[in-house]
Amino acid sequence: MVLTVVWKMANNSIPFTNSQIVAAFEQRTPKSKARHLEAREVFPSGIVHDSRYMKPHPLTIERAEGSWKWDADGNKYIDYYGGHGSLLLGHAHPSMVEAVNAQIGLGTHPAACHDLELQWGQLVKRLIPSAERVRFTASGTEANLMAIRLARAISGRNKLVRFKNHFHGWQDHVAFGSKYAGTENVPGIIEGIIENVIVADPADPRAVRETLEMGDDIAAVILEPTGASAGQVPLGRDFVKMLRDVTEARGIVLIFDEVVTGFRVSPGGAQSAMGLLPDLTTLAKILSGGLPGGAVCGRRDIMQLLDFEAAETQGFEKIPHQGTFNANPLSAAAGTAMLRQVAEGEVTEVASEQGRKLTAALNRVFADEGVAWAAYGQGSCVHFFTNPDAMEIDPLNFDAPTQPIPVMEKAGDHGAAGLFRLALLINGVDVNSKPGAIVSAAHTDDDITETADATRRALGMLKAEGLFHA
Ligand SMILES: Cc1ncc(COP(=O)(O)O)c(C=O)c1O
Repeated sequence: MVLTVVWKMANNSIPFTNSQIVAAFEQRTPKSKARHLEAREVFPSGIVHDSRYMKPHPLTIERAEGSWKWDADGNKYIDYYGGHGSLLLGHAHPSMVEAVNAQIGLGTHPAACHDLELQWGQLVKRLIPSAERVRFTASGTEANLMAIRLARAISGRNKLVRFKNHFHGWQDHVAFGSKYAGTENVPGIIEGIIENVIVADPADPRAVRETLEMGDDIAAVILEPTGASAGQVPLGRDFVKMLRDVTEARGIVLIFDEVVTGFRVSPGGAQSAMGLLPDLTTLAKILSGGLPGGAVCGRRDIMQLLDFEAAETQGFEKIPHQGTFNANPLSAAAGTAMLRQVAEGEVTEVASEQGRKLTAALNRVFADEGVAWAAYGQGSCVHFFTNPDAMEIDPLNFDAPTQPIPVMEKAGDHGAAGLFRLALLINGVDVNSKPGAIVSAAHTDDDITETADATRRALGMLKAEGLFHA
């Protein structure tokens, strides 16, 4: 059935003042507001991660369990922020609590090798098809920093090719050219770094291919393999295959940033799902079961640049790598318990199935409400297309991967997206700021039904505010 969607957004720059939605949010969250005012005296903007910046103020969460979390005012939310994607099992899963509790009394830092790091690394090797060797880091940002250094060192070349809006953390080589990491220019990053990074546009695959074929000084290509921002701007497999073929032919190191997609898109990450193997892979988030951690893994000949004996016997200069909290026992305990369940259970598929159910339920609501928005995504990574250009779309048949990349780049750019998020919070649902929903294996069918109902009410609030017109 082709549905004619009649409701469209009134305009793209919705004022945030004089809104009933903002007033209702403020009324429900006075304690969060008070904490925020205090926090602003300590932290810039009162926050510790840019994506938590929120008007009129962010929530202070006091506890979380399963798919739920509770704020300082006692309001309960179905959580789709998912620990920024790190919680495949939901909050405080008994297996994580048990693993961390068992370890904490045995010491949190032996300043020595320990069994859990070995088991954890073995699980990474078992799950990630391209992982011949593994090195743990303390975060995804650090993992990407090391992957890029390894690529430059093995190739003896300088330039890094990245893609517009693909997010790889906040370090200097990757923190510009992404709408989530900052804009084209990030103050404090020196010219010498910027001139050695090419921010390519995946909307023009021919130009990308030419860049890779013509450049003699390209060390590496790094990308989020399912597309910018965990697939919010989907990338086709053909494009990634082209990258694989050209980089292989040109001796360029291909890096998959699987910080979000690793263990989520499939137990073996996007590379397993796509059947395309990179030279290096970076991991974090689910890797350490909701505790801090990251890893770089991949081809043995590249990873051996970190190896003392190889450097000595083969006569090359080793890349130094320290890091006080690399594979710390608490992260290793949670990570090992997590990856064992990925390897031996169905958790990745359960989360994906719940993600598909949520996507279908939300699109039913958009269609019923006559709102030209759509939910889409891959498995447990769900995104909202908020249609800033008021295209005629059918939410029940919206095929995001076949849309032009420039259309999808604006997927969540709507002026009312912030108010939609607030309206959902008022109705007991926390989606992320993109906006999108990160689904876990803890999300139940009841959660999904309740989320659909909350979405219907939230859209009603936006309509009452005059933000759609026929
Ligand atoms: C794709 C991707 N890469 C890298 C990072 C950075 O990881 P971390 O926050 O652990 O430094 C993130 C974080 O959100 C990410 O989504």
